[in-house]
Amino acid sequence: MRVLNLYAGIGGNRKLWEDVEVTAVEINEKIAAIYQDFFPDDKVVVGDAHAYLLEHFGEFDFIWSSPPCPTHSQLGKMRAQNNDTRTGSHKSKPRYPKPESIASSDNCPSSSTNCG
Ligand SMILES: C[S@@+](CC[C@H](N)C(=O)[O-])C[C@H]1O[C@@H](n2cnc3c(N)ncnc32)[C@H](O)[C@@H]1O
Repeated sequence: MRVLNLYAGIGGNRKLWEDVEVTAVEINEKIAAIYQDFFPDDKVVVGDAHAYLLEHFGEFDFIWSSPPCPTHSQLGKMRAQNNDTRTGSHKSKPRYPKPESIASSDNCPSSSTNCG
């Protein structure tokens, strides 16, 4: 099975995939190098995931995408207080508490907002 792994990071989601032929796309050269070290048999493309998807989507059986999601992080909540429209979900008052599925941007290794 040919899999396209977009926003590949260092390949956390890739770890349990078996019997697959993977092309990974990661924009950060240093992160891409770490991914390549972990998965030497994968093809790693350093570039923009969305641009790659538009050109190559037809070449794959399965496409995985884990884009950065800063609007859903602690930083996103702060932006919501500043009326950032991308953070609408934080303005709602859910009946039940929602677990946050991602680490806050504060926990990103590179302290960038690119960490989902
Ligand atoms: C949520 S992390 C990916 C985590 C990864 N799936 C894992 O399990 O380890 C998002 C990654 O997308 C990368 N990234 C951000 N913008 C990108 C873009 N336009 N094209 C490709 N990668 C991008 C970031 O450098 C970061 O490594």
